[in-house]
Amino acid sequence: MQTNDFESIRNQAEAEAKNITTPQGLEEFRLKFLGRKGLLAQIAGVIPTLSKEQRAEFGQKLNILKSALTALVEAKERSVIIKDSGSGVSRADLGLPGIAQELGRLHPLTQVIDEICAMFSRMGFIVVEGPEIETEYNNFTGLNIPLEHPSRDTFDTFYIKQGMRDEGRETKYLLRSHTSPVQVRAMKAHKPPFSIVVPGRVYRPDAVDASHSFMFHQVEGFLVDKGIKFSDLKGILEVFAKGIFGENIRMRFRPHFFPFTEPSAEVDISCIICQGKGCSVCGRKGWLEVLGCGMIHPNVFKHVGIDAKKYTGFAFGMGVERIAMLKYGINDIRLFFENDLRFLKQF
Ligand code: DAH
Repeated sequence: MQTNDFESIRNQAEAEAKNITTPQGLEEFRLKFLGRKGLLAQIAGVIPTLSKEQRAEFGQKLNILKSALTALVEAKERSVIIKDSGSGVSRADLGLPGIAQELGRLHPLTQVIDEICAMFSRMGFIVVEGPEIETEYNNFTGLNIPLEHPSRDTFDTFYIKQGMRDEGRETKYLLRSHTSPVQVRAMKAHKPPFSIVVPGRVYRPDAVDASHSFMFHQVEGFLVDKGIKFSDLKGILEVFAKGIFGENIRMRFRPHFFPFTEPSAEVDISCIICQGKGCSVCGRKGWLEVLGCGMIHPNVFKHVGIDAKKYTGFAFGMGVERIAMLKYGINDIRLFFENDLRFLKQF
């Protein structure tokens, strides 16, 4: 076979293809060139007689010719079928199901955030968001977190740049380490009464492992009005926990310390795996910690200009990954961020 033989076969095929007008004609054409006993198959039959060097070149040319002819048949197929429709003889199988569009879905964390926010919305809370780049003031000072508090350390907070000017003042910026600074922003912007939930990303310089990530999500909540009591906080959180984890869940409030609430508590739910009997998930305790909360500290009210003699309020904050991991029995936080569809498709 000479190089120009490949070319002349191609020219011949192109010329013949022009005259095809029916599906039968096209099928004959296909068999003649591309069929099992067709011209190309015959040509391929000489390959074993060639030398090693010749084979490579020959094979390559044959492949090019084969793709060109296949493309020709496919193009012709489309035009013949269109022309032929109505004649009753068509290669188009109209009963063939279409190609299903695969639908995307929301990320499991987005689903859990939406579920949490919807639950609080039903209880009258509005959803507000704040920036991920915060001032040191909003992240710490406004929340009554003292200068010497360890969470201000660069080991626990990502600082961005020192000495930037904001409203004429030197301001330190950071990646917010919790969603609580939105308390400061929202309480300055709204007059009580208000009830607000704040979902969003937060950042901490933690080494990544099964239970830590340098970025994760929180939902913050707070409510301020006249005469708000700790029992109001308990009632709201009970509705929330039962809504997310089921009616049979029990709760307990453990005294704790947060600078921005007084009194403060950590809230546990009875272990959803062992129902409180004690297992490896709850560390044999029967309880799982789900959030922090308390009554808003008067110093926070002072920072935002709310009269603590007139108003009281409560606040709470929870980690979304933790809630999602408990709810769905996920044992590694990294699964949320690896974009592995085998994981994501399960939600
Ligand atoms: N900001 C706290 C944290 O990141 C969580 C928290 C605890 C928020 C108690 C609150 C609260 O509003 O009252 O660990």
